[in-house]
Parts: sequence; structure tokens; C-alpha cells
Amino acid sequence: MSDLFSLEGKTALVTGGSRGIGAMIARGLVAAGVKTYISARKEAELVATAEGLSAYGHCIPVPADLSTAEGISQLTQELAGRESRLDILVNNAGATWGAPIDVFPESGWDRVLDLNLKAPFFLVQKCLPLLKASASPEAPARIINVSSINAMRHSHMDNFSYSASKAGLIALTRHLAANLARSHITVNAVAPGMFPSRMTAFLYETEEQRRRTDAMVPLGRSGDWEDAAGPAIFLASRAAAFVTGATLIVDGGVAANA
Ligand SMILES: NC(=O)c1ccc[n+]([C@@H]2O[C@H](COP(=O)([O-])OP(=O)(O)OC[C@H]3O[C@@H](n4cnc5c(N)ncnc54)[C@H](OP(=O)(O)O)[C@@H]3O)[C@@H](O)[C@H]2O)c1
Repeated sequence: MSDLFSLEGKTALVTGGSRGIGAMIARGLVAAGVKTYISARKEAELVATAEGLSAYGHCIPVPADLSTAEGISQLTQELAGRESRLDILVNNAGATWGAPIDVFPESGWDRVLDLNLKAPFFLVQKCLPLLKASASPEAPARIINVSSINAMRHSHMDNFSYSASKAGLIALTRHLAANLARSHITVNAVAPGMFPSRMTAFLYETEEQRRRTDAMVPLGRSGDWEDAAGPAIFLASRAAAFVTGATLIVDGGVAANA
């Protein structure tokens, strides 16, 4: 029982791990004894985060632009050159776009879908040999996709392609879960609600805005790093070895209250 949630000695890749929810998840994994690779485009920020997280354990930065096939290949080749297996893949990197419906540009669809939906699929494809090398009936390898409660309720924002990308990611999670179960790889999603990050900075700019944002959450506050890390640690642990195709809502009750 004592090691039901243990991740000691595992290896993980967290995309978008330089800040926000990705850095929160990476912090939890690193502190749990996981050798954690983090990836993002901006090298200086990524390296600084890896240095900060190295205070808790082992964290390695690998810069890459995951909106392109070349970037995905570059990251996965780098990983394959360093590791013989991957236990946990966290598809967290994401972007959004907001514009009124009558002027919403095609680029606002391409950019968001390429990163939020296409990249997780191709990262899974390219990481499969490493994930399969880790996977066994007793200890399945894990894929965790970061969706959003925007997938299941209206965001009250003009982020059309974002909501669609996150709903698509939940569908992809279920599809991959069914396909990869016989390879002993579980595929689950988390659907966060309100977490302070660069993406949501406009909701937290002033004390008054923060108070209003927190007040929209039935539990009365926004998520903190442990709220992001805890569900990922659970889904990566032996405690969740029989969970696949699921989406865990992590939102303090926002979706339940919609
Ligand atoms: N914050 C929330 O309340 C919330 C709620 C629901 C879901 N989410 C989801 O959580 C995930 C993280 O979002 P966040 O709020 O933490 O946003 P964030 O602070 O903007 O972080 C986004 C991360 O993704 C990386 N990234 C962006 N474009 C990339 C690209 N082309 N290639 C590789 N990495 C890229 C960023 O680094 P670079 O810019 O250096 O590339 C950064 O590390 C996203 O999937 C988001 O949709 C967030």
C-alpha cells in the first residue's frame, strides 16, 4: 500500500513544462523522484525552470517547437538518444486564440489545432517505441493529455478553435486508450479549470480580477501547483494502472455548476 502512488525511478516527458500547468506537473513529478524532461520553445525560460526544479530532483530541458513535424522529431530523437524507455508522456503544451466570429482567422484554427491536437497525436506516435519499452501488464506506460473544461462547457470567450481542440483531445484520448490498451499503455486526460498562467494572465491582472475569477469557482479559489500535480501523479501511479480512456475534471466544481 505504501508504494501505491510511488513514481520513484520513472522517466517522464512534460511538454510545455517551462511554465504554467506544465511546470506545476513537472514540479510534482520531479519531487516524486521522476527523471523529468521538460520541453518548450523559449530556451532561456525552459532552462531556468529546469534549474529551479532541479532543487527537487532530476529535471532536463529539451527545447523544441511542437507545432511542426520537425520539432516533434527533433524532441523525440533527442529523447531516444538519451533514454531506452519512457514511462510517462504528458501532452501539456497548448495555445489559444480569441477573436469575434466574423473576423476569426484561419490561422487561429491552424495554430491552435496544430499544437493542441495534432502535436499530441504525433508525439504519441514518435514516442511509442520508448513507451512500449517501458510498458508491461503489471506496470503500464502512461500518456496524460491536458484538455480543458472548455471542452465540455461554454467558455464565455471567443476561443472557438481552442474549445474544439480540447474536445478533440478528449476524443483522441479515448480512441488511443482503446488502441494502446493491448500494448499496456494507458491514455487519460485531465481537464483543468481556472489556473493562473500566462495563458490566463488576463484573469489575474489585478486583485479585483483575481477575486472575481476565484469567485467563479464553486470551491472558491483557483488551482495551485499541487492541484495540477496531484491528478497527474495519480494517473501516472500504480493506483491508476486500471484507469484508461478517462478524463479527470480538475476545476473546483466549475463544470459541475455549469
Ligand atoms: N491555465 C488554465 O487555467 C488552463 C485551463 C485548462 C487547460 N489548460 C491547458 O493547460 C496547458 C498549459 O497551459 P498554461 O495555462 O500553463 O499556458 P502557458 O503558461 O501559456 O504555458 C504554455 C506552455 O506551452 C509551451 N508552448 C507553447 N507553444 C509551444 C510550441 N509551439 N511548442 C512547444 N511548446 C509550446 C509554452 O512555452 P513556449 O512559449 O516557450 O513554447 C509553455 O511552456 C495547455 O494545454 C492549456 O490549454 C490551462
